[in-house]
Amino acid sequence: MSNSSKLSTGAQPPDHPATGGGLENAVFHALQQPVIVCDENNRITFANYAAQSFFGASRQVLLRQMLDKIIAFGSPILELVEAVRQGNVPMTKYRVVAGPMRSSHESKVDVFASPLPEFPGSVSLLFQQRTMADKIDRQLVSQGAVRSATGLAAMLAHEIKNPLSGIRGAAQLLEQTIAEDEKLLARLIRDETDRIVKLIDRVEIFGDQRPVERHALNVHVALDRVKLLAQSGIARTASIVENYDPSLPDVFGNEDQLIQVFINLIKNAAEAIENTDKPTITISTKFVPGVKISVSGTSERISLPLEITIQDNGPGIPEEILPIMFEPFVTGKSGGTGLGLALVAKMVADHGGIIECDSQPGRTRFRILLPMAPSKILPLPTKTSPLKATSNPKATT
Ligand SMILES: Nc1ncnc2c1ncn2[C@@H]1O[C@H](COP(=O)(O)OP(=O)(O)O)[C@@H](O)[C@H]1O
Ligand SMILES: [Mg+2]
Repeated sequence: MSNSSKLSTGAQPPDHPATGGGLENAVFHALQQPVIVCDENNRITFANYAAQSFFGASRQVLLRQMLDKIIAFGSPILELVEAVRQGNVPMTKYRVVAGPMRSSHESKVDVFASPLPEFPGSVSLLFQQRTMADKIDRQLVSQGAVRSATGLAAMLAHEIKNPLSGIRGAAQLLEQTIAEDEKLLARLIRDETDRIVKLIDRVEIFGDQRPVERHALNVHVALDRVKLLAQSGIARTASIVENYDPSLPDVFGNEDQLIQVFINLIKNAAEAIENTDKPTITISTKFVPGVKISVSGTSERISLPLEITIQDNGPGIPEEILPIMFEPFVTGKSGGTGLGLALVAKMVADHGGIIECDSQPGRTRFRILLPMAPSKILPLPTKTSPLKATSNPKATT
């Protein structure tokens, strides 16, 4: 490609590596993190594609700007650039409020700044959005509130167990007398009561910090089960759309708990779309290899590449509930318990995962990120596809 014959603003050195073509340029543009370069006068000389949406301006506009015009006045980012320029060494600032940028006005970023030795005075800046890490902090805060519900939960659990054994017995009797094609539903009642009893055992020890028993398991098997349950009960009138990544590796999880997490979210979704035109719940799975979460207080970084999203087209979560919805006994429903999301938060956290929510009228989305099963852990036999002892179950990739 020849050099542009049109006159540019003259702001960029013609041979600046960042404005040229080639592999380097392609790599910069492929990055999901916004990257900009400013010269010795703080004029922007490079912006990758991610920077466009981050700063809410096209590259053409960005390339004519001075750094202080796109960063908040007095922002520590300006000091950082100056310090890097003076010291000629890379530096990082964590949890910086990014400034008056349209797409990230509320979010904090970590900023990685490096000098460019070939271009004296120029500094490159890479921005890493912190929303995910901050959401974990928020979620950890609600864990404290979850623990305060321990006593009451234990008492409730005790009261629920007795009637459950009655229901289970009745379902077992029914199973022996009804027609073959209805047996599936009776079995469903039996299996589900068994599952609830197990979960209640768990609720009784709500504040217990012991690790959950986990195995390699296929999220889609759990989701299929949840879908069957939902369509014969809690979400009978909604259409459930599946959007699955068929190559999703196994999760490192506890099947009963994950089923409960998905059911609680789908139940809330179904309740929210009761009066919605064309009520739809969309369940999606995706492999996102890049997501790594720092654990506060340690240098550990956990990889959470399995993403499960449950989305509905209801009216959205009431604004006053949104910041506290994972706390127990917070409910916007007249007959609600406010325990559904508290349990979800606890179980996801026990899996080392995170859950986040974004909600607006017409679209509420809960996104769960979970760890992958280590490759040496063999999958457990699942309820729908038992593995023979002689079979050779394949470990997850
Ligand atoms: N998908 C959703 N759409 C709208 N509001 C929701 C949704 N999920 C949860 N909520 C709100 O969060 C509250 C708490 O949910 P939850 O903890 O499951 O308790 P409960 O369902 O018993 O009220 C609900 O009462 C509701 O107001
Ligand atoms: Mg609920």
